[in-house]
Amino acid sequence: MSHNCHEHYSSDKQSLFSELQSFITATLQQSLAERDKASMAVSGGSTPAPLYESLTDAPLDWSKVDITLTDERYVPADDADSNEAMLRRSLLKGAAAKSNFIPLMRTSESAEATAALSSAALEQMHLPMDLVILGMGNDMHTASLFPGAPELNAAMSPDQKALCMAVQPSSSPYPRLSMTLNTLLNCRAIVLLITGDEKRATLDRALKSESINEAPIAALLQQDSIPVHIFWSP
Ligand code: 6PG
Repeated sequence: MSHNCHEHYSSDKQSLFSELQSFITATLQQSLAERDKASMAVSGGSTPAPLYESLTDAPLDWSKVDITLTDERYVPADDADSNEAMLRRSLLKGAAAKSNFIPLMRTSESAEATAALSSAALEQMHLPMDLVILGMGNDMHTASLFPGAPELNAAMSPDQKALCMAVQPSSSPYPRLSMTLNTLLNCRAIVLLITGDEKRATLDRALKSESINEAPIAALLQQDSIPVHIFWSP
């Protein structure tokens, strides 16, 4: 594993989420102490909901914390597939309901128009973000940066100025809204949360991959400027 990646292994999911909850809480507390503000982008999907549940009553001044998503499905915010809906059920309640949530899904005439509106909204975030919390698919995508997506090169270009882009992965029945690579890297620390042996094997492939088109997540794992904390359990 590269010197920039720090592995946090737990023997089961419960201890994994407990350790990661402590890590996130301490990171946000430190930023609040240093800067009186904190910000993080979190992933959707099925893995992180129990982690988010455990964060809702963390001892933080949540009113000073900006929260957004690394990516979103282009579906209504009350749709079963909506990451925002999942986040409102799991994290944005209790004390954490006082946080400043910046959604990526917005009503407009197209996914592209929504992405432009969300890019503008993300400008209000406290940057660099303290944390970006990523998941990973077994195709080595992260956020909604999917291998083979027609928009992938643009979304991962170092010259990309948009903070959020509409993408249409072939595996998705609907467009998605994703933070661009530059935005995901505009942070002080990256967390990757994965569970299961299959994803661990996928991670090992991504760490060795020489093609960010084949393994978009490799662009975040193999860089040397931002610490990467890999939290994983069987
Ligand atoms: C999404 C996520 C995505 C997710 C991975 C892993 O919108 O689905 O942001 O990048 O993190 O696909 O998803 P699982 O946790 O469901 O395996």
